[in-house]
Amino acid sequence: MKDLIQQLVETTGPSGYESQVRELVIKNISKFSKDIKTDSMGNVIARMGTKKAGGSRIMVSAHMDEIGIIATHIDENGFIRFTTIGGVRAANCIGGRVLFLNGARGVIFMEKLENPGHTPGFDQLYIDCGFSGRKDCTITVGDMAVFDRPFTDLGNRVISKAMDDRIGVAIQIEVMRQFKNSPHELVFVFSTQEEVGLRGATTSAYGVDPEIGLSIDVTLTGDTPKSIKMAVALGKGPAIKVRDGGMLADPRLVKLMIDTAEKNSIPYQLEVLEGGTTDAKAIQLTRSGVPSGCVSIPCRYVHSPSEMVDMNDVENAIKLILSLISSPIDL
Ligand code: CO
Ligand code: ZN
Repeated sequence: MKDLIQQLVETTGPSGYESQVRELVIKNISKFSKDIKTDSMGNVIARMGTKKAGGSRIMVSAHMDEIGIIATHIDENGFIRFTTIGGVRAANCIGGRVLFLNGARGVIFMEKLENPGHTPGFDQLYIDCGFSGRKDCTITVGDMAVFDRPFTDLGNRVISKAMDDRIGVAIQIEVMRQFKNSPHELVFVFSTQEEVGLRGATTSAYGVDPEIGLSIDVTLTGDTPKSIKMAVALGKGPAIKVRDGGMLADPRLVKLMIDTAEKNSIPYQLEVLEGGTTDAKAIQLTRSGVPSGCVSIPCRYVHSPSEMVDMNDVENAIKLILSLISSPIDL
């Protein structure tokens, strides 16, 4: 599975420009689903199984896009000013590298600071792709880039610039691979533009019209030096979301997930995330409302070039989701 993760995380796909990820996803799931469609927002929608007695239409969603930057201005010396796509923080950028969609690479650096003790704002940062001036600059205003970092395998733990949410994409592909039988009609959505406001999930949830919603995404941890206070740690199991900044998970679904984990001896944690949200929020609020929940993968350094997850959490998330969707759901 690490090969699949590596391929997914090393593919470039900032919000709205997910096409390379989409191709890789379709290549990997065409063996498992005979009904795969791409909608006008670029979401990949793959169906498996039909609804039988006690079954529901379940939408499961993982987002294909990653955070990035977009060029706003290029000066006469070829230095590129930029703004963010999704939740990029300036402190995570300085000295880092970026890879543009056209293959150009550059380093992000900062102007001389008036107050060196303060983190600079994005208006004080620029990208240097090594151009000698505007004439040989291959970047134009509106071009997008992502963090440029290779996949790193530490053994149990793996690092990448795009674990958010390619690890969810990999889990969803693995769930499709291992899926055998269920009373449910399953609709697996690989969504677009999550990082800029759940846009792909918003339209796909409307189109799918699910009866139950589930997202697979990363969450923060509270297990690093002087970190936020949060009862989620790397390696202690997938986190069952209770609450995040945009959603109160359906309590019946939370209970079902806890019962399912306990019955199958799958380690789990309970997640209360102060900020941020996932595709499940968009599913929950579509049409007249849908009971929704989320299986979260604990992840350190979210939205930095070095997001770290634990492979045991990944394996246990797959088990939990498979168990959940294999039995009738009576809320
Ligand atoms: Co994110
Ligand atoms: Zn995410």
